[in-house]
Amino acid sequence: MTDRKATLSVGDKSIELPVYSGTVGPDVIDVRGLVQEGVFTYDPGFVSTAACESAITYIDGANGVLLHRGYPIEQLADQSDYLEVCYLLLNGELPSPEENQRFHETIKNHTMLHDQMRNFFNGFRRDAHPMAIMCGVVGALSAFYHDQMDVTDDEQRQITAHRLIAKMPTIAAWCYKYSIGQPFMYPRNDLSYAENFLHMMFGVPCEEYKPNPVLAKAMDKIFILHADHEQNASTSTVRLAGSTGANPYACIASGIAALWGPAHGGANEAVLDMLAEIGDESNIDEFIAKAKDKNDPFRLMGFGHRVYKNFDPRAKVMAETAHEVLTELGLENDPLLKIAQRLEKIALEDEYFVKRQLYPNVDFYSGIILKAIGIPTSMFTVIFAMSRTIGWFSHWNEMVSGDYRIGRPRQLYTGSPKRDYPAK
Ligand code: SDX
Repeated sequence: MTDRKATLSVGDKSIELPVYSGTVGPDVIDVRGLVQEGVFTYDPGFVSTAACESAITYIDGANGVLLHRGYPIEQLADQSDYLEVCYLLLNGELPSPEENQRFHETIKNHTMLHDQMRNFFNGFRRDAHPMAIMCGVVGALSAFYHDQMDVTDDEQRQITAHRLIAKMPTIAAWCYKYSIGQPFMYPRNDLSYAENFLHMMFGVPCEEYKPNPVLAKAMDKIFILHADHEQNASTSTVRLAGSTGANPYACIASGIAALWGPAHGGANEAVLDMLAEIGDESNIDEFIAKAKDKNDPFRLMGFGHRVYKNFDPRAKVMAETAHEVLTELGLENDPLLKIAQRLEKIALEDEYFVKRQLYPNVDFYSGIILKAIGIPTSMFTVIFAMSRTIGWFSHWNEMVSGDYRIGRPRQLYTGSPKRDYPAK
């Protein structure tokens, strides 16, 4: 922290506020002292608000840069794997080969669920949205590990991280199996993290499932690209829930709930629904016009971002992966991909989108890959939640292992002034 100051004039008052600089990125003005001056800052949607200090992820939206503990997302997607990225996000450094091997083994040994958890699934209708099931089952994990919930104990936080990383694929795959009336598949320790997920999703007890290595690599890349993203809406939800001292499983469940919205993690499902609704390249102009019409709530799903005012670096990697997967499956002429590619080209040339710096985001191509692999659209955000669990947990862990206060924003009150209850 430095001794630099910003001066704010409010009425006849001149208020001096500390200014801090991070490693990189915008400086921040510490406005905590304003409440003593009788004024609040006003920032609905937190467009210009740094809610915390963090060392986990850095985004430079103007230049399309995303770093996890300093490492560019493109390099991690190309050279690492999801479990190594989990270790990096959680611990701050890449593991040594021995640490990496030990971490992979640890995660394998936590992939099973307590067998009584099967009953939670049975309480849902078969046609329940998988996100509703995941939200309920993950929240219920807190009922099974209550004895290891001392958030001040680093060792208990570590084992909770291992349990969440390991169990989310099992829960996610079981959400899918439950929805199609197929038996749950138990995890296999001879498979990689991504292979195991595909096995639990598409395997059946009647025969051995042999994961396609190209699809498993694509899944692992999707997990890496969705792992963390600074103080996005769902991560901020997890931090706020965690600031009350709530147990980590309940906090992660709050993140799942926040991610579900179509403006956030639900966008990948909404992209596929949009492409299906467009149906043919000849209809694209009509939908571009709808997206630009202020009187029409329709937005081009998979485009735009609160922070990226340039290409989302994850979208570029995702577009390459989409091509690899569709070629592997002989779907390179997939009509949805053709519509998506043409939509992207038109949008990037259209003045409305260019002026507002609306580029494809991480959700634009991910759905095309997942659909090609055979995953239903209702499962897309479940996979996003599974991957983002490490990001949510790492931010929660960073907060509770340091100094923090309960999050309690204020407001601009525009309701009725004091008035008396009418005499009877
Ligand atoms: C994720 O925060 C994160 O990091 C999120 C995420 C992560 O990894 O956690 O990156 C994941 O959520 C990606 C975003 C997925 N959502 C979508 O693809 C849904 C479609 N996108 C929009 O809803 C929107 O772009 C947001 C929600 C992503 C961003 O909203 P903002 O920052 O509040 O921007 P805005 O709504 O103020 O839009 C600015 C202008 C407006 O027009 P004007 O009022 O200035 O005339 O751009 C327009 C908007 O109408 N606009 C769009 C648009 N997105 C913004 N117009 C048409 N189509 C769009 N997609």
